Amino acid sequence: MQTEPTKPTYEQCVRNFFAQLQAIHVDHLEQRWITISLLVIGLFVGIMTLDALFDGINPPSKVETIDSAKLHLSKEFAEDNLGVQVDDKGNVVVRMVAGRYSFFPKHIDVPAETPITLRWVSSDVLHGVHIPMTNMSTMIVPGYVAEITTTFPKPGEYPVLCNEYCGLGHNHMWSNISVIAKEDWKAPVKSAVKGGSNNE
Ligand code: CUA
Repeated sequence: MQTEPTKPTYEQCVRNFFAQLQAIHVDHLEQRWITISLLVIGLFVGIMTLDALFDGINPPSKVETIDSAKLHLSKEFAEDNLGVQVDDKGNVVVRMVAGRYSFFPKHIDVPAETPITLRWVSSDVLHGVHIPMTNMSTMIVPGYVAEITTTFPKPGEYPVLCNEYCGLGHNHMWSNISVIAKEDWKAPVKSAVKGGSNNE
């Protein structure tokens, strides 16, 4: 007569699991690589945690909202106010609108070796923006302002590419930035004639 096998308790399961784990033969070299990879993961998680806590480096998600259908009526992203500006504190701020299928303005000049705050909004659908060889890569979600501060180390021509599929013209959606040597760059003069306000 067969006896009914008793159901193992939770504790027994855990104990069995660890017993099986210990029984696995792990080669010495393998053990060393496991340790190295765990250390590398620990190092990266540590760097991210320190940056987030002490340098304020976070994903661009300040949750600043804007009405994408009324950009032309907003003070900040009205046509006159787009492009490069220098604010009262001397910070270079760039405002751009992404819309099918371009970035507006199409071309801007910015100084090298200077922190530049780029503020983007979408006038229609989801776009992305990527400037190769910089940390400038973000989604531009309709209804939200995407903000990234970046520094261009060297003068040159940088492409600005859309990296979120936004429709049939997606692969033609690009723009470019001329990065000019710091000493040669002149802050754009805001014309008072247009009547656009400089500050929001
Ligand atoms: Cu805009 Cu793809």
